[in-house]
Amino acid sequence: MARALVKTHIRGFDQEVLRGGIPQGHVILIRGASGTMKSSLAYYVLYHNALEGTPGLYVTLEQPAGGLLEHVAALGLKATAVSDALPILDLSRGREHLEEMVTKVGAMTDDTAPRGEALIAVLKAKVLELRKKRKFQLLAIDSWDALELMLEFQDRRAETFGFFEWLRDLGVTSLLISEEPGYEAPATALEEEFLADGIVHLRLQPVSETSYQRRVQCVKMRSVNQDSDDHTLLFENGRFEVARAIG
Ligand SMILES: Nc1ncnc2c1ncn2[C@@H]1O[C@H](COP(=O)(O)OP(=O)(O)OP(=O)(O)O)[C@@H](O)[C@H]1O
Ligand SMILES: [Mg+2]
Repeated sequence: MARALVKTHIRGFDQEVLRGGIPQGHVILIRGASGTMKSSLAYYVLYHNALEGTPGLYVTLEQPAGGLLEHVAALGLKATAVSDALPILDLSRGREHLEEMVTKVGAMTDDTAPRGEALIAVLKAKVLELRKKRKFQLLAIDSWDALELMLEFQDRRAETFGFFEWLRDLGVTSLLISEEPGYEAPATALEEEFLADGIVHLRLQPVSETSYQRRVQCVKMRSVNQDSDDHTLLFENGRFEVARAIG
């Protein structure tokens, strides 16, 4: 049976590139360098789904919720219209915040400083609680890199695998924002690329000596014969739109 498809609401992207949308339940990486509008795009997808009655959860780890809301307001998105259907879980204070939660739920088994394992257990419990309470269908994690840092993975490979399994078991469609790895990054930094069901790359492409164009490319989408070509990404009047890039 074909899976239900989640619309991104990016004009030209759902039909022409994704052939309908993101298969429900997929774990998608939104990868790009700083300033390529990763957060804007992820929020936009959850926002438009929330407007249509599909609840979401946005977990912010780098940017405080206030800053994110200010940014999306500047883009013309009315977050207050969806505040019930799209809550923001603000973990931008990082470990400090999670450690407070650990203390609250008494998840500490000894009096040593909280370890990654205790933190991840608390984070999962919090997300599960919100899943039960709010029945969200879409989850954004901004960013995967910040989450990984906070949770201090001891065995990156195994723990990344475990986390992706947990996401799939949640039964939601997930958007994981991730930074473009640097040239010197070890091969293991690409673990999540193999584990993800889909990868959307965002970047600024130089088109002349002095000008740049936003580009988007869907490099992977399991079970979809997606269009892998480069597309220009435009943001105008509160809407994202893609058009085939002319080579
Ligand atoms: N009204 C607007 N219209 C179009 N683009 C805008 C507008 N306001 C801000 N931007 C662009 O949005 C970019 C920032 O978007 P966003 O925060 O989503 O990027 P990001 O990839 O998440 O960045 P970071 O790596 O810092 O998290 C800015 O660099 C700016 O160019
Ligand atoms: Mg961001």
